Amino acid sequence: MNKQKTIFSCQQCGLQSPKWLGKCPDCGAWNALVEETVTVTKKGGRTVPLRSESSPVRLAEVSATDEDRLHSGIEEFDRVLGGGVVPGSFTLIGGDPGIGKSTLLLQAAGGWTKAGTVLYVTAEESTRQVKLRAGRLDVAAQDLYLLAETSLEGVLEQVRQLKPAFLVIDSIQTVFTAALESAPGSVSQVRECAGRLMHLAKGEGVPTFIVGHVTKDGSIAGPRMLEHMVDTVLYFEGDAGHPYRILRAVKNRFGSTNEIGVFEMKDVGLTEVPNPSELFLAERPRDEAGSVVVPAMEGTRPILIELQALVSGAAFGNPRRTTMGIDPNRVSLLVAVLEKKVGYTMLAQDIFLNVAGGARLNEPAVDLGVVAALASSHLNRPVPQRTVLFGEVGLAGEVRAVSRPELRVREAARLGFDQCLLPANNLKALESPQGMKMIGVRTAEEALQILFD
Ligand code: TYD
Ligand code: MG
Repeated sequence: MNKQKTIFSCQQCGLQSPKWLGKCPDCGAWNALVEETVTVTKKGGRTVPLRSESSPVRLAEVSATDEDRLHSGIEEFDRVLGGGVVPGSFTLIGGDPGIGKSTLLLQAAGGWTKAGTVLYVTAEESTRQVKLRAGRLDVAAQDLYLLAETSLEGVLEQVRQLKPAFLVIDSIQTVFTAALESAPGSVSQVRECAGRLMHLAKGEGVPTFIVGHVTKDGSIAGPRMLEHMVDTVLYFEGDAGHPYRILRAVKNRFGSTNEIGVFEMKDVGLTEVPNPSELFLAERPRDEAGSVVVPAMEGTRPILIELQALVSGAAFGNPRRTTMGIDPNRVSLLVAVLEKKVGYTMLAQDIFLNVAGGARLNEPAVDLGVVAALASSHLNRPVPQRTVLFGEVGLAGEVRAVSRPELRVREAARLGFDQCLLPANNLKALESPQGMKMIGVRTAEEALQILFD
C-alpha cells in the first residue's frame, strides 16, 4: 500500500527535513525549505538494478579505448568533453536562460546523427519551434528525432521503443515523474528524474545530455546535487551583451577540467572560434596605462588575454577592491606585495581589475601580469604595446616558474608580440621563437624596472 507523507526539502542542496526550518542546517541557505508531498511505497527503498558487469574483472581485460569516443563534429565542443562523448556518459550542461544551451545541443545532435539515432526531448519548446531553429542552424539530419514530452515515464517509454544512440533532455527542470507529487523543477523531482536517467545512461550505454538552468551560484533547484550525480558538468557562459560564449568543463570524469571551447553566437547559430587570442585582443586600446596582455593556459591551449587595471585615489572610507574575472583575494595579495616589496603606496587607493572579453583567469601564472597592470595604472605609464608577461609572484616578491612556458611564448610570438618577461627559471630551458626577445626576471621589482625605467 502507498502512503502519503509531507516533507520539507531544501531547494538549494536537497536536504530533507520532517519540519519546516528557516535556515537549512546543511548548506545554510535561508528560506529554502519547501513543502513537498511524497508517496512512500510499502516495499521500501529504491530498487537498484543489478548490472551485468558487477563481478570483478582484471583491469587489463576491460575493453575501453579512446576510439570509442563519439564525435559531434563541433571541435570546440568535443575537446571540452575530453575528445568526444564517452558511451554511457551522463553530462549536465548548465547556464543562464537564453545563453544558447538548446542551440548548442541541437547543433551537436545534428553531428551525432552520423554515429546513430539521436532522440532530442524538448520539454520546453514545441517540436515546431525546434524545427524552425534547426532550419536556421542548417541542421537537417534524417536520424534526429524530436519528442515534445514532459513526463519522464513517457520519455523512458519512447527510449525503449526507439533505442536511440544519444539522448538529450532539454531541460531537466521541466520533466517530471508521476511517482512524486511535488512540482516539476523541485529538488525531489530533479533528483528522481536525473537518477532514473542516469540508470538508463549507465545501464544501456546511451550517452545522455541534460540541460539545467543553473547559474554558477546555483540559484535553481538542486544544482549541487546534480553535479554529484553526473559524469561531466559543462557550463555555458557569456555575457548577454557579447556574442561570445565560453563552454567550460567544471567536472569531467573523462578529461581535463580546464578546457574551454569558445563560440560566437550568430544568426546562423553558434560558430566555433578557433583563434580565441585574436578575439580577446581585438578591442585592446593602444598605449593605454593599466592594460597588459598575459598568455594564460586554458586546459591544453594558450590564450592571450588582456588584463586591465585602474588604480585611483579613494574618495573616502575603505578603499574598494573590485575585480571581474579574477580572484579578488589574489589581487589583494599582489597589491600588498607591491606596497611592501616594491614600495608603491596603493593600500589606500581604489583598485579595479578587469579581465577583458568576459574571460576568467585563475592560474597563478598571471600574477606578474596583474602586478604590471596595477603598477602601470598607478604610475600612469603604459606597458610597451607588444610585450607579454607571465610568472607566479610569491609573498616575498619573487617570480616563480610556471608550467608550459614554451606554449605561452609561442602563442605570443604567433600573434606578433616581440618581448616577453618570464620567470628566470623558465628561461633556462627555453628556445626563443624568431623575433621574440625573452627576458628572465627573478623578482617583481626587477620586472617593473625593465618595463618602466
Ligand atoms: P537558446 O539556445 O534558446 O538558449 P537556452 O536554451 O540556453 O535558453 O538560445 C537563445 C538565444 O540565442 C536567443 O536569445 C537568440 C539567440 N540565437 C541567435 O542569436 N542565433 C541563432 O541562430 C539561434 C538559434 C539563437
Ligand atoms: Mg533552451
